Parts: sequence; structure tokens; C-alpha cells
Amino acid sequence: MPLLCLSSPKGGVGKTSLAAGLAFALQRAGRQVVALDCDPQNALRLHLGMPIFDGAGYIAQLQNRPDWRACLRTTPAGIALLPYGETDMRGALATASAIEREPELLAAPMRDMLADPSLIVLADTPPGASAVLSVLAPQASLVLAVLLADAASTALIPDIESGRFLGRGTMGSLLGPKLLIALNQVDRASRLSVAAAEGVAAHLGPRLAGAVARDEAVAEALACQRPVGLHAPGSRAAGDISDLAAAVLRELPPPAPPPAPAPQPVSSPLFPWVRQ
Ligand SMILES: Nc1ncnc2c1ncn2[C@@H]1O[C@H](COP(=O)(O)OP(=O)(O)OP(=O)(O)O)[C@@H](O)[C@H]1O
Ligand SMILES: [Mg+2]
Repeated sequence: MPLLCLSSPKGGVGKTSLAAGLAFALQRAGRQVVALDCDPQNALRLHLGMPIFDGAGYIAQLQNRPDWRACLRTTPAGIALLPYGETDMRGALATASAIEREPELLAAPMRDMLADPSLIVLADTPPGASAVLSVLAPQASLVLAVLLADAASTALIPDIESGRFLGRGTMGSLLGPKLLIALNQVDRASRLSVAAAEGVAAHLGPRLAGAVARDEAVAEALACQRPVGLHAPGSRAAGDISDLAAAVLRELPPPAPPPAPAPQPVSSPLFPWVRQ
């Protein structure tokens, strides 16, 4: 039922790596996850083990109103994925304008996905403002903005806090409470990185959902096409991502309870002392 959107005003901060890592960690925590790649780079599939020449996908086909269930792939990492699909610049722009013109192209199937109470939909979005993010954010239980512990990223915090990133006015005020931040690539050996992380933590307080260490295991995991939790479960980054998943779960609605068992048919006659 809940939708978790990974986003950032800045590119290259680790959204896709964290999306793959969180999908794995949430699944490990017993939740059923559908990972949805909304970025025309179509890279989330690579983190989850899909063959590089497999161009099948969902969002790239959105103008044809495909059935999302038919586009679902079970990845070698064991996570259900709706890949973006193979596209080129012209195709990606056409898809983005179609979503902007007709938000229901994406909003309607998303409502359908979210109607399943057992699912967490985890969406990876393109860097910066995008048509997909503007459609998904209002339906999201949580928008997780990823930033680096550096000067360029920390300079964007006022943008995020003022609502400029996700929209002002009603949209901003609706989303404000749902927006948390994750710091990525925190390097404890770097004075600057530690100072940035400490400053951000003090400033954001509970709006900082977690921090993930800079760790070669993350890049290696992609080279091996596996989420870091599967590739290097004992690594610092895998531990941090699992903590981040736990923090995310605290913010999401709990999973639906299993359906109550159907009442057993009664074989003997009811109320035999009442004459019928
Ligand atoms: N915690 C980390 N430690 C070390 N390297 C990392 C970490 N997180 C991400 N990286 C590396 O940073 C690079 C960018 O990561 P990624 O592609 O996940 O970012 P992104 O925000 O999705 O980028 P884009 O904006 O292009 O979609 C990759 O080479 C990835 O391996
Ligand atoms: Mg990405």
C-alpha cells in the first residue's frame, strides 16, 4: 500500500544505489516490494541483476497504457521490478510530456498498485524536478530526498525546506511532513564530510532519516549487479542501508494484517431445539 519515492534535487547522489539497497533491505524485513524505475537511464534493473540487453520495461511504454502486472519482472536479486524500459532522448521526452499532459497515465496505475495492502512500491526518480515526481509525490507515504555530505548538497537544503523542490503552496504543505532526507557517501576519514554530516544532522533533527557511509562495496555491488545487502552483507554501507530501511518502516503504515480465516461451515443442524 505505501509508496516510497527516492528523489533528489541533485544528480549522482546515490538514489538508484539506495533504491536497490532499500528494496532489498525492506524485503529482508519481511515486506513485499515492487521497485518502480521512473528514470529513463533505466539503471535500477542493473542493480538487481537484469541482463544489460533486456530492454523491456513499463514507464517507457506508458503512452500505450500497458498493464503494470504484465510488465512486472522478478529479478535475479529476488525483487519484483517494473523497469523503465529501453528508450532514447526523444522517447524519454515524449513520455515525460505525455505524463505532464495526462497525469492519469501514471496516477491511475499507481492507485491500482497502492490498493494492494501487502505491497510497498519503491520508486526511483530522475534527478531534479520531473513529471513523474510531480505525479507520484502526492500519492507517496514518504518522499526520501538523498543528499551527499558535501557543500553542493547541503546548499540545497534550503530549497528542499522551502518547498521549492517539490512545490509550494498546498502541494508543499501537503508534502512537507512526508519529506525526509538521507545523507549518502558520508566519509568518516574526511573532515569536510564529517562536518557537513554533523551540521546537517543538527539542522534537520528527526527529518534526517539516516546516513550511509561512503563504501567501495556499493560500487562493487553494482559491478556484480547485486544490491549491496546481498553482495556484501557485512559492509558498512549494507548496515547503514538496513538502518535506513528500519527508519523508513517506522514512517510507513504497517502491513495489512493477514485476512481472517473464513468461518467453517457448520455440518450439524443449528439450534435443533427450535422447531423450524
Ligand atoms: N555509499 C556509497 N559509497 C560509495 N559509492 C557510492 C555510494 N552510493 C553511491 N555510490 C556511487 O555513486 C555513483 C552514483 O550513484 P547512483 O547512480 O546510485 O546515483 P543517482 O543519484 O541514482 O544518479 P542519477 O542522478 O544519475 O540517477 C555510482 O558510481 C555509485 O556506485
Ligand atoms: Mg539514478
